[in-house]
Amino acid sequence: MTKRRLLITSGLPYANGAIHLGHMVETIQTDIFARAMRTMGHDAVYVCADDTHGTPIEISAAKRGISPEALIAEAWNSHVADFKGFNIEFAHYYTTHSEENKALAYEIFEAMQKAGLIRERVVRQLYSEPLKRFLPDRYVKGKCPKCGAEDQYGDVCEVCKSRYDAIELIDPHCVLDNSVPIVHESRHLFVSLSDLSEFLDSFASSSALDDEVRNFVKTWIKEGLQDWNISRDKPYFGFEIPGYPEKYFYVWMDAPIGYIATTKSWCEANGKSFDSYWHDENTEIWHFIGKDIIYFHTLFWPAMLKVAGFTLPHKIHAHGFLTVNGKKMSKSRGTFILASKYLEVLPAAYLRFYFAAKLSTGVDDIDLNIEDFYYRVRSGLIDNLANLHNRSFSFAETKLGGLLSSVHYDDACRELIAKTRSRIREAFDMYANLDTAGAIKSICEIGNAANLFYQEQAPWGYLKGESANVDKARAIVTACAEVVRMIAIALKPVVPDFSAKVFEQLGLGDQNLADLDKGLGDGNVIAHVEKTYIRPERAEFDALTIPEEKQEEKGVTEEAVKQTIPGEEKGGEDKVAEIVRTPLKPLIEFDDFEKLDIRVGKVIVCEKVKKSNKLLRLEVEIGHPDGPVQILSGLAKHYQPEALIGRNVLVITNLKPREMFGMMSNGMVLAASDELGLELPTVLLRAPGSQVK
Ligand code: MSP
Ligand code: ZN
Repeated sequence: MTKRRLLITSGLPYANGAIHLGHMVETIQTDIFARAMRTMGHDAVYVCADDTHGTPIEISAAKRGISPEALIAEAWNSHVADFKGFNIEFAHYYTTHSEENKALAYEIFEAMQKAGLIRERVVRQLYSEPLKRFLPDRYVKGKCPKCGAEDQYGDVCEVCKSRYDAIELIDPHCVLDNSVPIVHESRHLFVSLSDLSEFLDSFASSSALDDEVRNFVKTWIKEGLQDWNISRDKPYFGFEIPGYPEKYFYVWMDAPIGYIATTKSWCEANGKSFDSYWHDENTEIWHFIGKDIIYFHTLFWPAMLKVAGFTLPHKIHAHGFLTVNGKKMSKSRGTFILASKYLEVLPAAYLRFYFAAKLSTGVDDIDLNIEDFYYRVRSGLIDNLANLHNRSFSFAETKLGGLLSSVHYDDACRELIAKTRSRIREAFDMYANLDTAGAIKSICEIGNAANLFYQEQAPWGYLKGESANVDKARAIVTACAEVVRMIAIALKPVVPDFSAKVFEQLGLGDQNLADLDKGLGDGNVIAHVEKTYIRPERAEFDALTIPEEKQEEKGVTEEAVKQTIPGEEKGGEDKVAEIVRTPLKPLIEFDDFEKLDIRVGKVIVCEKVKKSNKLLRLEVEIGHPDGPVQILSGLAKHYQPEALIGRNVLVITNLKPREMFGMMSNGMVLAASDELGLELPTVLLRAPGSQVK
């Protein structure tokens, strides 16, 4: 393997707001990539910082009567705490308000001056007399000059989508104090981007961009690149421009330079070579950003780097925006979820797992649907992967003294392990290509196969009676523990806390992809087994958002309308008419069927009923808020109670309760039976509570 050196960044969050789950899409995607690279043995550092400059920060600080420095310090502390809560592993989380950043911004500005790219020009802008300041586009509103729509900002009309200059607004007013702005002139500094269009076009053709992003950029280049105004008048919180008193660098000039400044600060504190990152073509610089800031990163940024002689980005990956329950995050719907609020309600691992399962290469928006979130976490992480760990490790510890041995592996064990190994290598290739959804899918399939293996091999059956064979039981459990170990390596980028627990219970140090082939066997001992995750309740997920407003209920009605599309209804009738067979039992109405509430249930407790040779007493989790239900079922002749614990079954949950042997049975477990025996249907992927329809 050739060891790669990567410097990985994500978009620098503004210091004038709290971290929300939209930001977390990006930091989680970036962190997974960085951790995957390290697990694969590469040298990958992830750096980020707060973006601290600009008018909004200066105004917020003034409103609160504190200095901008105090405001950004407060934001930094809260951002760092949120990212820590989500287990984001930064090599360094810095700030753009640093000496390093100022020096680098000057260096790059001077390089652009030397290259003759900086032009001075007089600009007419809206100015507030009472506030003694020029007003940025978002601080003025008025009528759209194109369509006349009321209450539009100074840059773009929400109604007709046209872009214009703020001075074109009809009847403008300042959003800060409602005063009427006037037009003032001011001298500004512009970067002539069009002078670099040849370079930018070739950069846009390079492999640094994905096709979708490339298409945007090529269109912008074709439309003609506008000169870029990089100066702002005082009052402004930022770096004063050398040689231009009372003029400041526009925040978007020094913000990306923060990537370099953060690296510099990290290198100095850790004895690393700065040049090996920013003056070395062999180093891969990876930027993860949202689709809203593609322009800045694919045009302005490479232009600055090129002119000043810094390493160009190896990859600029843009992702989509987060929606919650299918809609834009909204404070009034309760779906504008802050990172800190999430962490009060649920473990970070669940969101990391969910985003991982949904994120791939494109710029499509990604939806956090609370119901889907719950089911994916339950069925993928908890009931599949964590369950495989818990059942096999607990069995090893309590029944086999924790001792593992692969001496008695048979072909089935060997095949399970060989398949797992090759699929996990494939999963890492997917991580490397940013297809985390593909990686998670593969890992879950491995988990399902191993759970099925454990179920079918039933190691508990070899512990007593005529078929007792402890060696065999130990071999089966060792094979499963080995799969769990490999899964833990594969999940390290996504849920590192899970992996750390598994390695610890195996008495192993940290494991990486290089350790994949070092199988478990004689001498390995499982001890201090503890569950990786406690099974979550649906209510905890619902607590993330307050209920949607009443009007949203219309959605349900629309759904109902869709189900009775005339054509489909007719098709249904035709089919009924075609049936000429005599039914095995009298026909029933659909309504009769609908009365049955059949659900997936998970057996939590299972034991023999005293004095009965037929009945087992089960406690089954069916997703009911009151907890598991007790069911008595005639399974004793066909299944060992232990074999059913942890297994999914199908249950009719609304059968009238019935008393047997002095106990209540509150439902019925479905099974297929004939004269040869009885078999429970297999439901591996659906979580308890899922309906059978
Ligand atoms: N400060 C600029 C970035 C400067 S980079 C040199 C900025 N800040 S931000 O706080 O608004 O956003 C930081 C990152 O989070 C951006 O990449 C942005 O696209 C991303 N996201 C912010 N809200 C988001 C969603 N709702 N969904 C997904 N990503 C989002 O932009
Ligand atoms: Zn308009």
